[in-house]
Amino acid sequence: KRPADLANIYFLRQKETRGLGHAVGRARTFVGDEPFAVLLGDDIMKSKVPVTKQLIDAAEKYGASAVGTQAVPDEALARYSSLKIEALEENIYRVTDMVEKPKPSERFSNYAILGRYVLTPDIFDILDGLEPGYGGEIQLTDGLKKLCAVSPMVAVDFEGVRYDTGNLKGYLEATIDFALDHDETGEWLREYLKSKSELL
Ligand code: G1P
Repeated sequence: KRPADLANIYFLRQKETRGLGHAVGRARTFVGDEPFAVLLGDDIMKSKVPVTKQLIDAAEKYGASAVGTQAVPDEALARYSSLKIEALEENIYRVTDMVEKPKPSERFSNYAILGRYVLTPDIFDILDGLEPGYGGEIQLTDGLKKLCAVSPMVAVDFEGVRYDTGNLKGYLEATIDFALDHDETGEWLREYLKSKSELL
């Protein structure tokens, strides 16, 4: 009930699987002409300050769009995206270019966009004009590449742990870590895992 009291909740079904950029473009009807946040449901974050709040603070400070980032290992980069960045302060970078699902020769850096964005509504016109990119889908990254060429964008190397629940191991890690921290389940799970570790 609490979230329902905090906000008006709208949803929209993406009737065809045409990519993340296409999905975000569908939200134009209820976002209107305001900055907005995009949270990818399979990227779960555990942090003291919500990652979206960290991005909002940076977006306001720099009058920019903001994307969440962390450095990922070389072998993982091809599953994500790669940002071209210049340092502005310890954990905030200016973004000047990017590439979705980079081949090794296309990489700008090991900083990938990870699941959180704060965007200005000028992304919508850009998304409407995009041709399909990687995988034949309309890629949000391709839209952001155009956006960062015409207006300021920052990347925030956010404080927090990110779980990729799009794969089974990441899903289990997130479930275990959140359950260990939870008042109702923490103590029980610790004992349960100990009992299992005797079997290993
Ligand atoms: C999406 C984005 C990609 C980003 C990734 C983070 O990819 O397109 O830029 O790095 O999320 O999880 P997807 O997971 O849809 O392949």
